Amino acid sequence: MEIPEASLVSGSAVKPRSAIAPGSAIEIVALGHQQLDLTSADLPERLSEINADVIINCAAYNAVDAAEQDMAAAMALNAEAPERLAIWCRQQGAWLIHISSDYVFGNVFGNVFGNDLGSVFGNVSGNASANMLGNAPRALTESDVCEPLSLYGQSKLAGEQRLLKANPGALVLRTSWLYSRFGSNFVLTMGRLLTERPELKVVADQVGTPTWAEALARLIWQLLIWFHLKPEKSAVLSGCFHYAATGQCSWYLFTQEIAEQIAKQQCNSAPSSQAAVPLQTASPSQAALQSQATLHSPANPAPITPRCRITPVSTAEYGALLNRAQAPRPAYSALDSSALKDAMAAMPSAFRCYLPKDYPSPIWLSWQAQLALMLSGLGASSLG
Ligand SMILES: NC(=O)c1ccc[n+]([C@@H]2O[C@H](COP(=O)([O-])OP(=O)(O)OC[C@H]3O[C@@H](n4cnc5c(N)ncnc54)[C@H](OP(=O)(O)O)[C@@H]3O)[C@@H](O)[C@H]2O)c1
Repeated sequence: MEIPEASLVSGSAVKPRSAIAPGSAIEIVALGHQQLDLTSADLPERLSEINADVIINCAAYNAVDAAEQDMAAAMALNAEAPERLAIWCRQQGAWLIHISSDYVFGNVFGNVFGNDLGSVFGNVSGNASANMLGNAPRALTESDVCEPLSLYGQSKLAGEQRLLKANPGALVLRTSWLYSRFGSNFVLTMGRLLTERPELKVVADQVGTPTWAEALARLIWQLLIWFHLKPEKSAVLSGCFHYAATGQCSWYLFTQEIAEQIAKQQCNSAPSSQAAVPLQTASPSQAALQSQATLHSPANPAPITPRCRITPVSTAEYGALLNRAQAPRPAYSALDSSALKDAMAAMPSAFRCYLPKDYPSPIWLSWQAQLALMLSGLGASSLG
């Protein structure tokens, strides 16, 4: 079976629907905010000009804290726009894939960590590779109750509900803790701060699943190929599905893993006399710092971890350090993607195996493995 190639078209110049025939290339029209404002009054007319077979809505008002003061703007982009997209898609027979968030959940299992952060830290300290907290509950499924804690979460949940009511054939993909090599995100920020700061205080009582945006993109690409070749089958994937990497961690453990993986890469790329020392969660001694300082020249930067102590803090402690109001976030929002995996298993294998043999598909990997793939593609030096 021939797998279609993608051609990327930025801007508003697009071919009519008839140009996309079975067996031909899939044309992707990537429109930024400036090219298509989803809150504009003439959205349906603009959509008709573009006339896509599938719309993937990645746009969002995603400033979680700012949304607390700006609910109208969050609702306009996160709830009203998806509903309008859904109506257009239903009327025109197009498929809509919409990205949603783990922040639609509240504290499903109550206050998981209570005030006993010691037990959380006890489970993770000294073991940066562990991806589970000993007392973590099961990951959340699509049937768990959504009671968002923040206005951002409320606007995203309203978007899901309004979209699916207007167009039950649409697909909502809920994902979590996204990062990539582009833009601004937790991995890139921590990669930089780990080299700049002597100490980082990171929240340890929020647990979720870091997910590489490229894995999500590859999943959607796979769905597009499937839709392109078998449009009648897209009904199998309608409604709400979770997609995240496997496993779970706190932001603190995620930071430890980022530091460890970057240090490993630096170690691999450094001459053997400059091997990095393992991750330290305790403060490095002055003597150790001194010896590292003499080992490493500016041309061969020192490994990150000896210079930066990573300290776990509670959400409340972190909030006090920030000195500004923070929107409440769920203590636990790891997502269980098994329903999606099962639904996709029904696809013929040709739809699933389109990647080059030497490139492991990142879609169903653990969050640590996805992070490793992202960092190896990026090169540790770009972070340091
Ligand atoms: N980041 C996470 O950890 C995370 C976690 C779970 C779910 N999600 C979801 O993932 C999706 C992508 O979020 P992201 O965090 O990755 O954000 P992002 O990269 O900042 O993407 C948001 C996009 O929304 C566009 N946008 C803003 N206002 C718009 C408007 N009026 N009309 C059209 N487009 C507009 C922005 O376009 P311009 O750049 O052109 O302004 C930007 O490309 C969202 O649905 C979000 O809720 C994110």
